[in-house]
Amino acid sequence: MSYHAKQSITPARKMLAFVFLFVAPVFPFALPPHDVNLQDLTIARSNRAQRVPLQPSISPLSTDFDDSPLPVIVWHGLGDASNADGLADTGDIINEVHPGTYVHFISANGESDDRSASFFGNVTEQIDLVCETLAKDPILSTALAVDAIGFSQGGQFLRGYVERCGSWAPKVRSLVTFGSQHNGIVEFQKCKGATDFVCHAANALLKSSTVWSDYVQSHLVPAQYYRDLNDYENYLAHSNFLADINNERNHKNETYKENLAQLEKFVMILFEDDNTVIPKESGWFAEVNATSGHVTLLKNRPIYQENWIGLKDLDEKGGLVFETVRGEHMQLKEKDLKRIFRKYLGPLRKDARDGLKVDL
Ligand SMILES: *[C@@H]1O[C@H](CO)[C@@H](O)[C@H](O)[C@H]1NC(C)=O
Ligand SMILES: *[C@@H]1O[C@H](CO)[C@@H](O)[C@H](O)[C@H]1NC(C)=O
Ligand SMILES: *[C@@H]1O[C@H](CO)[C@@H](O)[C@H](O)[C@H]1NC(C)=O
Repeated sequence: MSYHAKQSITPARKMLAFVFLFVAPVFPFALPPHDVNLQDLTIARSNRAQRVPLQPSISPLSTDFDDSPLPVIVWHGLGDASNADGLADTGDIINEVHPGTYVHFISANGESDDRSASFFGNVTEQIDLVCETLAKDPILSTALAVDAIGFSQGGQFLRGYVERCGSWAPKVRSLVTFGSQHNGIVEFQKCKGATDFVCHAANALLKSSTVWSDYVQSHLVPAQYYRDLNDYENYLAHSNFLADINNERNHKNETYKENLAQLEKFVMILFEDDNTVIPKESGWFAEVNATSGHVTLLKNRPIYQENWIGLKDLDEKGGLVFETVRGEHMQLKEKDLKRIFRKYLGPLRKDARDGLKVDL
């Protein structure tokens, strides 16, 4: 992957971007069709077992200190949907590793509208809605805690959930993110070919000055985590989501820091052969200068060193984990998922259970 060439934006591309932006929200059929390669999760499975309906193991109002696995919430990626096959596979695999796990697939705007909501909308409003929905869920809201799995952009959105709503919505024990864009993207994504016009239009749009308009920042999801180091002042001034959630502005929200630091584990998983996310190092919260290609690892950055969002606190208690898996973005192998789920999901550890104070 190359970080070197700064793409020039031809007038034709600009036109395309505008057409895309103004037409798509009005006509749902102008949405990225399924065959446009976005970030759909695919899991290579050796044998596909008969799918059984998931049974919640934690009954509503339960204050059991038993060793049943914590419920899991899963937020899908761009262009994907909560009811997609890859997500159902994920639920199955979690249950093969930890039988009886209640899995909730997050839907930012109602199941029928998921694919669209992953592309269009105001991320702040989407997260608010998710917080409220989960807080009303009888199982999630009465569990001692939940684990959270974020695929691609779903990862930074779940981090937003923890930071913003961690003190009142269902509490997250461990947050595990796969190929997420914690430090943003400098392009929409690497397009698969010349005819992938949605991709090219979105790339052109992010590179144009209109990316910082309120209209784009409140309507196009990837624009809300677009971050170019060489256009940093505009990012700080206008980013609707990422600059806020990363506490990059002068005023730091202490609540974000306290909430994130309360995680037991924050696991960031990077796809070694990620050819979609630019830069892929964003999955580890590293910063890449798109012009020089220079990579600054998280621990050498002020966000960590000055503890803007609690990452240093997490690290000091052994809660900050960097992992890799082989493969291209969102192309997962069953064995990798099983290893990760075995390690980070499941019942509360006994000492954690004993340490919890519950109002009975
Ligand atoms: C900090 O974030 C919390 C949670 O989202 C919010 O309620 C609060 O208003 C924010 N504080 C400031 C000063 O922005
Ligand atoms: C996104 O929604 C929030 C909450 O309604 C609002 O405060 C913010 O201004 C919106 N962002 C933009 C860029 O319009
Ligand atoms: C990024 O790299 C370019 C080329 O080396 C350099 O001119 C620029 O100052 C760097 N940007 C930042 C913000 O460090």
